Amino acid sequence: MARILVLHGPNLNLLGRREPGIYGRTTLGEIDRDLARLAAADGHQLESWQSNHEGELVDRIQDAPATFDGIIINPGAFTHYSLALRDALAAVRLPTVEVHLSNIYAREDFRHHSVVAPVALGQISGFGAYGYTLAYLALRQVLSSPKEGA
Ligand code: DQA
Repeated sequence: MARILVLHGPNLNLLGRREPGIYGRTTLGEIDRDLARLAAADGHQLESWQSNHEGELVDRIQDAPATFDGIIINPGAFTHYSLALRDALAAVRLPTVEVHLSNIYAREDFRHHSVVAPVALGQISGFGAYGYTLAYLALRQVLSSPKEGA
């Protein structure tokens, strides 16, 4: 059984009514419910959590290794400048998948750079809410593969 932590950064609590042309009409509650169902069907544990506060996200990442095997994170705007989030992910070294609903490379220049990407296993960007399902499938695969050298 794998234990997965899903972290959503600032403003993602507004999904559904926040710039729906860019982020879609699916709410965060719907995304979290679908992920929980997927994980339960696989016999995995999954917990989702959203915060608008950088320090709270850092705290959750620091605490994660005690309870979780992997992380799915949409850091929101923190993606582009939060070295604190990046350092926290690098410190805990849990397998991490970065998700963005929008294609950050097709938007404003300041969104083209992710400071989180170098410490993530990989990034999924541009597939809307379905990106979370893709991230779950990717992380599930990684967590079920035998560790190298084991
Ligand atoms: C986002 C992209 C970020 O640039 C933006 O600040 C967000 C959402 C996305 O999911 O597409 O808040 O991470």
